[in-house]
Amino acid sequence: MRHLMSPLDFTVDELEKLFTIAQDIEANPEKYSHACEGKKLATCFYEPSTRTRLSFEAAMLNLGGKVLGFSDANSSSAAKGESVSDTIRVISSFADICAMRHPKEGAPMVAASRSSIPVINAGDGGHQHPTQTLTDLLTIRSIKGRLSNFTIGLCGDLKFGRTVHSLINALVRYENINFIFISPEELTIPEYIIEMLKEKNIPYREVRKLEDSIPELDILYMTRVQKERFFNEEDYIRLKDYYILDKEKMSLAKSDMIVLHPLPRVNEISVEVDDDPRAVYFKQVQYGVYVRMALLLTLLEIEI
Ligand code: CP
Repeated sequence: MRHLMSPLDFTVDELEKLFTIAQDIEANPEKYSHACEGKKLATCFYEPSTRTRLSFEAAMLNLGGKVLGFSDANSSSAAKGESVSDTIRVISSFADICAMRHPKEGAPMVAASRSSIPVINAGDGGHQHPTQTLTDLLTIRSIKGRLSNFTIGLCGDLKFGRTVHSLINALVRYENINFIFISPEELTIPEYIIEMLKEKNIPYREVRKLEDSIPELDILYMTRVQKERFFNEEDYIRLKDYYILDKEKMSLAKSDMIVLHPLPRVNEISVEVDDDPRAVYFKQVQYGVYVRMALLLTLLEIEI
C-alpha cells in the first residue's frame, strides 16, 4: 500500500506515468467513468478548502466512485478531542482511500502510519501540498511541453506557502531549472530550501521587485500572503498587497511566459490579467482534477 506525503514519494519516471494517465483521462474521459465503481474516497479536511477537496471529490465521482467526509474539524470528533490516529483507524473501515488536510505539519504522515488505506496529504500546515504540485507540474508539462530548461519566478509568500515548498522540491529533479525567489524580506524562502539548492548546485536568486525580474521568466508562480499562518494581523495587513500583478507588469514579460497560481487569489493578481492568454491559473484547476483522477487510480492500483 502506498501513501502520498510529498511529491518526492514518486520517482520522475513514476510521475511521467501519472501524467500520461492524466493526459489520457483528459482526452478520453468516458474510458475512465466506471474505473472506481464500488470504491469510496474519504475527504478529511481539518482546514478550509475549495479546490483541493472538491477536485478530489469530482475526481472520484468522475471515476464512478463515491465520496464521504468532513470539511471542517469542528463538524468532526476532532472537536471532542479525537486524535488523527484514531480518526484514520475509523475512516479505514468506511473508505478505500483518504485525502487529508490538516493545519499541523506532519499530521497526514501520522495518519498514514496508522492507516490501513492509502492516505494522501492534501496540505499540512506550511509544509507540503503534493497534489497541488502534481497539478502545477501537469499544467507546465501540458502547456510548455516540458519540465526542464526554464526560469521560474516564485512570487509572494515564500515563507509560509506550502505549494511553493513542494514545487521547488519537485522541480529540482529536472534539468536546467533556474529559480528566482521574489518576496518581501519578511517572507523569504526557508533556509532549509536554500541549503538544499546550494547542495545540489542549482541556480537561484532572491529579489524584492517583481518588475526587475519578470522579463527573464518563462513561468511566473504567484502566491497569496498566507493570512492564516501569521501571528500578528498588523504584519499581514502591511504585507498582503506587496505584489500585485497587473497589465502593466505583464507588458514587461515574454510573450510565452505563463502565469500560474495555486489559488485562492486575494489581491495579488489583478482581475484585468485574467483575460491575458498567458494567465493559465483557471486551466490549472482543471488539470488538478485530471491528475487527482490519475492519482486515485494509481494508489488504488486500478489499471485501465
Ligand atoms: N490550491 C488550494 O489548495 O486551494 P484550496 O485551499 O481551495 O484547496
